Amino acid sequence: MKAISVIGSGTMGNGIAHVFAQHGYKVSLVDISAGQLEKALSTISKNMDRQVIKGAISEEDKNQALNRISTFTTLKEGVESADLVVEAATENMALKLDIFRQLDQFAPAPAILASNTSSISITKIAAVTKRPTQVIGMHFMNPVPVMKLVEVIRGYATSDEVTEIIMDLSRNLSKDPVEVNDYPGFVANRILMPMINEAIYTLYEGVAGVSEIDTVMKLGMAHPMGPLQLADFIGLDVCLSILRVLHDGFGNPKYAPCPLLVNMVEAGYKGVKTGEGFYRYT
Ligand code: CAA
Repeated sequence: MKAISVIGSGTMGNGIAHVFAQHGYKVSLVDISAGQLEKALSTISKNMDRQVIKGAISEEDKNQALNRISTFTTLKEGVESADLVVEAATENMALKLDIFRQLDQFAPAPAILASNTSSISITKIAAVTKRPTQVIGMHFMNPVPVMKLVEVIRGYATSDEVTEIIMDLSRNLSKDPVEVNDYPGFVANRILMPMINEAIYTLYEGVAGVSEIDTVMKLGMAHPMGPLQLADFIGLDVCLSILRVLHDGFGNPKYAPCPLLVNMVEAGYKGVKTGEGFYRYT
């Protein structure tokens, strides 16, 4: 594994590119928008500066890592010499299936195709390719350079060999990978999202206010962020879409999204990215 292509240069994509480049891999970062690629390189540089300031890497390490990243606006060019592709595009089923059809066409036959999806079925994604044994989930957590977990998701057909390669590769990135099977929400979001949803119900039912709910969970359970602040950080639209995957996938009313969450997303209050969710960011 030497050449890694990362598809999508938003928050997750630029974090994934950052971590691979920092650990010596050659990275092709692919996005349809040249402006977004520019922005991603500047974000990676700023996030590496934080690591330089605290002595985790040197200025020279930073420059070498940045030099390992090339950018592309076409998928074909960006993946034609990849050993591994990590897709981190917008969380939209039709878009991801379309990207994987193209990856299957343009990436070399032995390449492994991974998705950073937070909730879309790896089995379903794999089924649109002619190499389902080589398709796997590589679910990084935000902020990628900081969080130690990679949730490695085996689709129905993912081979043992490919799983082992991705587990080892994640360890080479100084991450702690955990292998899980492909069922709705995998493990991380199956447990996290009902907690966030319950926090929103607690607010909706008037049991306590926003900062009170977050303070209980931060100081009482030692969570780094309260559930409502974390929901804002993840994006309320993303939380809603993951809850819908859980609700549809299990057919169990316990996953039904709180009406307050639905209302906030419909009103455009999606958290940090829109400047307001449970908190204001402007
Ligand atoms: N790149 C590099 N370093 C970063 C960074 C980034 N993007 N963001 C933060 N850091 C570093 C900071 O430099 C700082 O380093 P030191 O402690 O060594 O100085 C450290 O991380 C902590 O950052 P801050 O001091 O700025 O702020 P903080 O102490 O409040 O921590 C946080 C910020 C790491 C985000 C912390 O609040 C946290 O862990 N929050 C919970 C995050 C979480 O739960 N993520 C998972 C979300 S779910 C998900 O991603 C998956 C999904 O499918 C929805």
